[in-house]
Amino acid sequence: MSYQSNAQRYESMTYNRCGRSGLKLPAISLGLWHNFGDVDVYENGQKIIHRAFDAGITHFDLANNYGPPAGSAEENFGRMLSTDLKAYRDELIISTKAGYGMWPGPYGDFGSRKYLISSLDQSLKRMKLDYVDIYYSHRPDPDTPMEETMMALDQVVKQGKALYVGISSYSPEQTRMAAEILRSLGTPCLIHQPRYSMLDRWVEDGLLDVLEETGMGSIAFSPLEQGLLTDKYLHGIPEDSRAGKPTGFLRAESITEEKLQVVRQLNNIAQQRGQSLAQMAIAWLLKDKRVTSVLVGASSVKQLDDNLKTLDNLHFSDEELGKIREIIK
Ligand SMILES: NC(=O)c1ccc[n+]([C@@H]2O[C@H](COP(=O)([O-])OP(=O)(O)OC[C@H]3O[C@@H](n4cnc5c(N)ncnc54)[C@H](OP(=O)(O)O)[C@@H]3O)[C@@H](O)[C@H]2O)c1
Repeated sequence: MSYQSNAQRYESMTYNRCGRSGLKLPAISLGLWHNFGDVDVYENGQKIIHRAFDAGITHFDLANNYGPPAGSAEENFGRMLSTDLKAYRDELIISTKAGYGMWPGPYGDFGSRKYLISSLDQSLKRMKLDYVDIYYSHRPDPDTPMEETMMALDQVVKQGKALYVGISSYSPEQTRMAAEILRSLGTPCLIHQPRYSMLDRWVEDGLLDVLEETGMGSIAFSPLEQGLLTDKYLHGIPEDSRAGKPTGFLRAESITEEKLQVVRQLNNIAQQRGQSLAQMAIAWLLKDKRVTSVLVGASSVKQLDDNLKTLDNLHFSDEELGKIREIIK
């Protein structure tokens, strides 16, 4: 049977304005880095996408290299778009990126105009789209002049292949520079996508201030520290978890006893709040108004539902914030 979206899908989600732009993003967005490749079960991914859109998640984040194999997440998502979501294209914000190694030779990596423009053409073909909503430079390139990378982003907007552009993992100084160049070209930088979680707070050291100053929104990636900020690793490494799978980016060795001790203490606070740790970790990011959206991953509908329930309790008392600060300092 063909997919029909829930008519009440906009009633439970919160939408936040992305910096000083006209675009609003859902407080919780869904990323397709893991769980949507050819190594995964297509129908499971399809159920997650349906559930997400039914719950008001309008934003789906991809990149050229998501899979594995690289490119397969875009292909699979493209198939879901054309079979199930075609009628909803104007209700969706679809992003993709280029910046990490994608094809052999000197033109399939980092930030040259050659790479960014040909990669977007490939992504559009894989997803069977005329345009993406947001196109990102996936990481800064130490060797390509920033002007070249930004001119490529500006060009795809002017060609109508992307509506907005963003940057990911740029330092505060690089972000300020990228914002200035893009503004001078007439294409404001919409958004920054940094890694940000209770266990990785580098953005608090200048980046969030630059975003506010430049009018850029932000979307926090790996907000659950790839699953570590949930209760799943408290009693060992489950076989079907990201750290237990051979294709997962989270390595078992990185789940140290030291980290687990922090996670256990956070889990206690979450329980006292009547929330799962995943929910508390997401809510903790959303308390900062400079965070437009939190970009979660999910390997099941159940996890996505757990994460969506975050929106039922976003409030923290000063006492809770103080206790959390002590644990994650
Ligand atoms: N710009 C960049 O360089 C960059 C880098 C990384 C990610 N991203 C983006 O950010 C998105 C999210 O990153 P991420 O997948 O690392 O995010 P995450 O939300 O930190 O981790 C998601 C993983 O945690 C587990 N999980 C999620 N909810 C759970 C719950 N309620 N209970 C128990 N376990 C739960 C699942 O792993 P299991 O498989 O263990 O179930 C899930 O796949 C990516 O898809 C991508 O779009 C961008």
